[in-house]
Amino acid sequence: MSAEAARSPPGALAGAPASAPRISTAGRRDLEAIIALERRCFGPVDHFSRATWRHLLGQAAQRGTSLTLVVRDGSAVLAAINALLRSSSRTARIYSIAVDPGQQGRGLARQLFQALMRRLPARIDAVSLEVRESNDGARRLYERLGMRMVRTMSGHYPDGAVGVRYLAPRSVITAASAQRSGS
Ligand SMILES: CC(C)(COP(=O)(O)OP(=O)(O)OC[C@H]1O[C@@H](n2cnc3c(N)ncnc32)[C@H](O)[C@@H]1OP(=O)(O)O)[C@@H](O)C(=O)NCCC(=O)NCCS
Repeated sequence: MSAEAARSPPGALAGAPASAPRISTAGRRDLEAIIALERRCFGPVDHFSRATWRHLLGQAAQRGTSLTLVVRDGSAVLAAINALLRSSSRTARIYSIAVDPGQQGRGLARQLFQALMRRLPARIDAVSLEVRESNDGARRLYERLGMRMVRTMSGHYPDGAVGVRYLAPRSVITAASAQRSGS
């Protein structure tokens, strides 16, 4: 999945989300806002193309092979997570997760994972993802969610960077995502 953040200064969007942000399923109407979010969060190598997002929010969502959840602030999207769901597989693959640079560190990624675990189809019993080996912040998040590194993939990214694969049972992420730090 996409990886390293091109860090923008904090406060790119004004106003903190409510303590329990409203998380909802994304649709075609969120296309431009999700593309804008990714551009704020990722370098050019890592953000998805418009065509990819059009497919994920359109045909793939209708077929049930893609599920995207968002935290909205008006017409803007503050955070998004996408999972790919093959009908033949019991493992969901997190394809993208991004939280606006001005909203990071407030638990939005954890809450998106929690909401996603609730909404995955019943057959799904595991979750996997790939991340740049160098993306320490994202790797810390996945480890806090109980995920374990299962594989290293050299040259996995178009710029030749190493990728690592994480995997966890759904039940582990469900339990870990419900716990805040210190609880
Ligand atoms: C990685 C990212 C999604 C985390 O989002 P977030 O909303 O800031 O994460 P949360 O606030 O929910 O953090 C949840 C846990 O992960 C840990 N964590 C998250 N980001 C971290 C960071 N940069 N450094 C250290 N720990 C981090 C926190 O310690 C927290 O654990 P705790 O609640 O037990 O203390 C966000 O930084 C981001 O969008 N980055 C740019 C895009 C990206 O790299 N996406 C991942 C591609 S694979």
